[in-house]
Amino acid sequence: MELTSSIYDSQSDFETFGGGFGGDLEHGLVSGKGAHWKRNRSIITPAFSSGKLRQMVPCIQESCDTLLKTVRNAMKTTDNGQQMEINRLFGGFTMDVISSTAFGIHVESQTNPDDLFVKHAKRMFDISFTKPWMLAILFFPTLKPLFVKLGACLFPLDSMAYFRKLTFQLLKERKSDKQVGRKDFLRLMVDAQEGRLELDPEDEFSREQSGISSKPTHLGLTSEEILGNVELFFVAGYETTATALTMTAYNLATHPECQDKLRQEIQEKIGSDKVDFDNVKKLDYLDMCINESMRLYPTAVRFDRTCVKTTKVKDITIPAGMVVSVPVHAIHHDPEVWVKPDVYNPERFSATERAKHDPLDYIPFGYGPRQCVAMRLALMEAKMATVYMLRNFRFCVGSKTEIPPTMEEKAIVKPVSLWLKLEEIK
Ligand code: HEM
Repeated sequence: MELTSSIYDSQSDFETFGGGFGGDLEHGLVSGKGAHWKRNRSIITPAFSSGKLRQMVPCIQESCDTLLKTVRNAMKTTDNGQQMEINRLFGGFTMDVISSTAFGIHVESQTNPDDLFVKHAKRMFDISFTKPWMLAILFFPTLKPLFVKLGACLFPLDSMAYFRKLTFQLLKERKSDKQVGRKDFLRLMVDAQEGRLELDPEDEFSREQSGISSKPTHLGLTSEEILGNVELFFVAGYETTATALTMTAYNLATHPECQDKLRQEIQEKIGSDKVDFDNVKKLDYLDMCINESMRLYPTAVRFDRTCVKTTKVKDITIPAGMVVSVPVHAIHHDPEVWVKPDVYNPERFSATERAKHDPLDYIPFGYGPRQCVAMRLALMEAKMATVYMLRNFRFCVGSKTEIPPTMEEKAIVKPVSLWLKLEEIK
């Protein structure tokens, strides 16, 4: 479906947003707790099974082709001596992927960054925790209900209104279209709502992750929950993956020996074959380069858990109800865990080196049952785009490249702006 986004830019739904501090997203997976979260997660998890990821490959390939075209067009017109703001470039790419794999819509984020859809999706993640009222809530959580009553919300209300309207329109279309075609996320959630959710019987991943059987289930999902999850996918999937790609490109530009080694691996293992779900898994060194980038620059610098039962860990008693923060960035940079932690060295992630580490030493996607549900999609997408780019361009440091880059500390940590020089490989 082609999205003519201007028709959804309505201000009229402001009052009808999902309410609460997290707005519509309070009904999404990430805000759920206990049995409610488990049910929600069981429904979402099959969307990321091997079978579903394979079905997403043509969409990602198409977005990779557009990525190359965007770079070539920019190189023809740019006054910056082949230099490009790489975070913007990859932002357009991940937006394309998420909109097509999640909802089957085509927004041309890469070629039309002024599109309303793109504008609103970007604003959804532009959350700063430095607003005075957010700091007040952070330090005095008991004040939260008061701020919520006064209309405080993490997300811009007009952007939420936009996605609410868009989602309900797409949902209406899906419900009237009884043909079960490509299983994008939205279709999966509609199936769940209508009691038609089935797990891929051969998919161990889905079953292990969701903890439910392969028999059809009747789990139900409210429209509010669908909306919450839809908005969550945009928010969670867009800048996280774009930043992982950006920082990988930056590290390869500043470590040309690693870039050459990676290009050689691609040449030796997959030659000029089209990159897909299966052959990208053969690229061990690519996996190492991306892991090392996400160790140095985790986008989620911290995640939290609430203790449900008073627990003793070594000499520390954690009372029920206490929120425990896991400092991802600090763990990834701890000299007692990683030798010379500030140095980019993909070899740390070779099979032998990795075996020497505790799994909790490297946690860019979180850990345990609440680990990022889309980790495999994010990695596949980042790997495919990196291969497409490396086969055609060399990432180089240019006069505008800031070393080290200044990082912006908003809801996720990302570079303020990252310029690289791109040289076409003839
Ligand atoms: C490189 C890209 C990404 C990174 C680094 C990342 C990181 C994370 C982290 C750290 C968490 C919290 C995990 C925990 O508490 O243990 C999380 C959760 C989540 N992520 Fe991602 N993520 C990425 C991409 C994506 C994408 C592409 C999507 C959706 C299409 C997504 C959807 C989610 C959802 C729905 C959750 C909540 C899971 C739950 O509470 O059960 N993420 N992610």
